[in-house]
Amino acid sequence: MEDEQKKITEEILRLKEERRAIILSHNYQRDEVQEIADFTGDSLELSRKAAGVDCDVIVFCGVNFMAESASVLSPDKTVLLPELEANCPMADMVRVSGERKVWKTFPGYDEQPTFVFPHDFTLRDIKAQHPGVPVVTYVNTTADVKAESDICCTSANVVKVIESLPDKEVICIPDRNLSAWAAKNTDKKIIAWDGFCHVHDRVSVEDVRKARKLYPNALLMAHPECRLEVLELADHVTSTSGMLRFAKSSDATEFVVGTEIGLMYRLGKENPDKIFYPLRKDMICPNMKKTRLSSILRALKELTHIIKVPEDIRLGAKKALDRMLEIK
Ligand code: 13P
Ligand code: SF4
Repeated sequence: MEDEQKKITEEILRLKEERRAIILSHNYQRDEVQEIADFTGDSLELSRKAAGVDCDVIVFCGVNFMAESASVLSPDKTVLLPELEANCPMADMVRVSGERKVWKTFPGYDEQPTFVFPHDFTLRDIKAQHPGVPVVTYVNTTADVKAESDICCTSANVVKVIESLPDKEVICIPDRNLSAWAAKNTDKKIIAWDGFCHVHDRVSVEDVRKARKLYPNALLMAHPECRLEVLELADHVTSTSGMLRFAKSSDATEFVVGTEIGLMYRLGKENPDKIFYPLRKDMICPNMKKTRLSSILRALKELTHIIKVPEDIRLGAKKALDRMLEIK
């Protein structure tokens, strides 16, 4: 097994050179994928990287909206998504217009076993209800949704982005929890879409209480995709890379990690003398775990799957992403 992994790794590195490729990985990817990547980061860091990287091919180890953003920002490069089925259920909870899509259960999401989403309501409907109100769109959305938006945001900069707008009210798409967090941290009125991330939304106040009891000396970090009542009990609320920075700079030696467990790999590696506990062991994003070393190898060998956003949508999405990237 180890020999097999070594062989695949060598082959990936050889093909990477040959193709002038770069491998980008989100912080939630499998340990071995993060290990082979040229750069691992949160959504904001990855967007910046995709916009500025010097190569011919970008292999994007993440979910499809991230590869789309790379294609939007680097149209002259070949952007590859190694696993075509790696999608983000939250991103699919909003569409620009058109047919109703029904979501049923998510694996492991016991609290709401028959949650049906979304309603017969589209981005254009909410815009029509609030004419002139700008749309702030989380990067966890498809490119056509970004193209219909005024500006993008990530979990790292949502408040800054909202504050950068002159308007007194904004529409926030699609995460209701991120919107609630933003509303708490700004005086502006937030009109929130009703989407959520099934990995983070499952965390309850009870989970926090249990963790506090089990690890009384640990600081609790939570991702803003968690519910507001959970965030209010956390010691620090931030993006995945924000957690990495916080853990490194803090004097504390124990941390409870309120995000997808893929982050535990870098936390442990970069802080060998500190201890990290998952807030819930089942905070696993099945889509982020679809990409394996064998997927990367196939992607580089066969140049699959090429993600190319159509030019009219790309230009609209780029405007919203660029406007976000201009904010320091
Ligand atoms: P960040 O890494 O930007 O915090 O994003 C979390 C996430 O859920 C990406 O899918
Ligand atoms: Fe989407 Fe949540 Fe998975 Fe991130 S962790 S890709 S928001 S489902």
